[in-house]
This record gives sequence, structure tokens and C-alpha cells, in this order.
Amino acid sequence: MPSYAVVGASRGIGLEYVRQLAGRPDAVVFAVVRNPESSTHLKDVAANLKNVHIVAGDVADYNTLEKAAKQISEITSGKLDCLIHNAAHMDFKTVHKGFDDYADMEELDNDFIYAFKVNSLGPVHSITAFLPLLRASDTRKIVVIGTGAGDLKSVQGLNMVNFAAYGMTKAAAVIATTKFAIKLKDEGFVVVSLTPGVVDTSATAGAYRDAVREGYAAFTASVKKATGIELTAQTPEESIAAQLKMIDGLEASQNGLFLSHTGGEYGASH
Ligand SMILES: NC(=O)c1ccc[n+]([C@@H]2O[C@H](COP(=O)([O-])OP(=O)(O)OC[C@H]3O[C@@H](n4cnc5c(N)ncnc54)[C@H](OP(=O)(O)O)[C@@H]3O)[C@@H](O)[C@H]2O)c1
Repeated sequence: MPSYAVVGASRGIGLEYVRQLAGRPDAVVFAVVRNPESSTHLKDVAANLKNVHIVAGDVADYNTLEKAAKQISEITSGKLDCLIHNAAHMDFKTVHKGFDDYADMEELDNDFIYAFKVNSLGPVHSITAFLPLLRASDTRKIVVIGTGAGDLKSVQGLNMVNFAAYGMTKAAAVIATTKFAIKLKDEGFVVVSLTPGVVDTSATAGAYRDAVREGYAAFTASVKKATGIELTAQTPEESIAAQLKMIDGLEASQNGLFLSHTGGEYGASH
């Protein structure tokens, strides 16, 4: 029975991971969310699925992840085959901000520090908390969801001056992921960053649905204006199907890489 933990599974990409993985009849899926009660989209999806367990865990609070790992361990007899760390701070009201979009340096500092806690330390916390369970499995896969906003060539290629806190803190997550890949290589782990492409997650954004949709439209329009590149947002179904294909096929030679859902290493053309 393959076991998967999706960290940050209340909505958007994480929720779709849960939905597609739960469709594998032999799988057990742990949906780790910081607030199980208010994760209404997840609760709806999990209502009729016996192989989905909702577990509380906040990536900015390490103790909650240790508790989550203990809970999972009790169900899986101490093992976890695959960790998918998806959680990120991407508040649509602030995520697009560039350095000049803050009232003052204190506001900028606070936003960056919070983003660093969730986006950069979050993966460090969840990999560390789940490592004993992953070590007990023969599969040993760790996937941290990355973004072009945190990739140097994409930032240049797409003329991305905005998304400053998000991009910088997600770039740090890529470095953290690679460090774990090096550290765990001799134990047979495959640890990668994986970008989903542009995915329209507005359907599960609740009250912010329209604002999130407008955010994607504004982002793709600004990229087109600056570079001529036409980015099209995928549905979560399309992107996660492609990501799972990548995850299923991960090989030792890919350990430490930053991969794209379209296959192979991430580049500005993805
Ligand atoms: N959508 C895209 O186009 C796109 C493109 C490139 C990369 N990505 C990456 O894909 C991942 C998911 O993005 P998304 O578009 O699905 O975003 P989203 O709809 O905003 O979902 C973010 C998820 O992270 C969770 N989260 C936030 N802070 C958390 C914390 N402290 N502890 C635990 N969970 C937390 C949220 O839970 P709550 O409900 O509790 O807030 C939510 O489930 C992110 O890593 C993002 O960088 C997305």
C-alpha cells in the first residue's frame, strides 16, 4: 500500500494531489493542513474516501509537523513512501509585490520574514519531521513544489521584477531541497524540486476566486507585454496528472534536480 503525505493540501494544487492520489485504489493519502476545520474543499473531497486521512500540521510550526508524523506513523506502521511538500505563502493580496510596493521598509521586512518562514523553512521543517518515516520505506521520494518565480533564468527571461518575497523565498527552498538531496543520496533517496507550471487554482480559492483569477490574467498579460511569451494557465487536473507522471518515474539520476511537470529539468521555456 503506497503511502503519500501532501503537505499544504487544503486547496489548489495540494488538494488536487490528494484527489488524484486517492483515486489509486491501493494508496493511502495523508492530507496535512494547518487548519483541518476550515479546509472545507478538502473535507468535501475526503468525505467519501476511506484512503484519505486529514492531519493537522503548520509548516511554520515544527512541533505540529512532528505530531503529524507521529499520527501518520501510527497508521502506516512507521513508514512513508513519498512526501510532497506543496505548502506556500501566496496570499493573492501581497504575492505579486515588488520592492517598491510596500509602504515602508518595516512592512517589506515583515512580509519577507513571514514568507521565508513558510516558503523556505517550511520544506526544511517538513522534510526533517517526516524523515524517520521516509527512511523506513524502500521508496524514499521527497518532492518540494517549486516555481519559475524562484528560478534565476525564468526571472530574467520573463522580466519578473515583482513577486519579490515569493520568488526569493522559493529560490531558497530549491537550495534547501538540493542540500537534502546531497545529504540523503547515499541512503537511496530521490529528493527533487518540481514546478507545476502556471495553474489556475481559483476554483478552490473560496471568497477570493475572482481576485485569484484576475491575478493570473494580470500576470500572464504582464509577461506577454514584457517578453511576447504567451503563458496559458492549466487546470489543476492537467498539471497534477503531469506532475504525478514525473513523480512515479523519478530515478536516482534525478536526485537534487529542479524538474518541470512537462518532463526533464526546469528551464525558462516551461
Ligand atoms: N498556481 C500556480 O500557478 C503555481 C505556479 C508555480 C508554483 N506553484 C507552487 O505550487 C504550490 C501550491 O500553490 P497553489 O497555487 O495551489 O497555492 P494556494 O491555492 O494558495 O494553496 C497554498 C496551500 O498552502 C497552504 N499553506 C499556506 N501556508 C501554510 C502553512 N503555514 N502550513 C501549512 N500549509 C500552508 C494553504 O493552506 P491554507 O488553506 O491553510 O491557507 C494552501 O493549502 C506552492 O508551492 C506554489 O509555490 C503554484
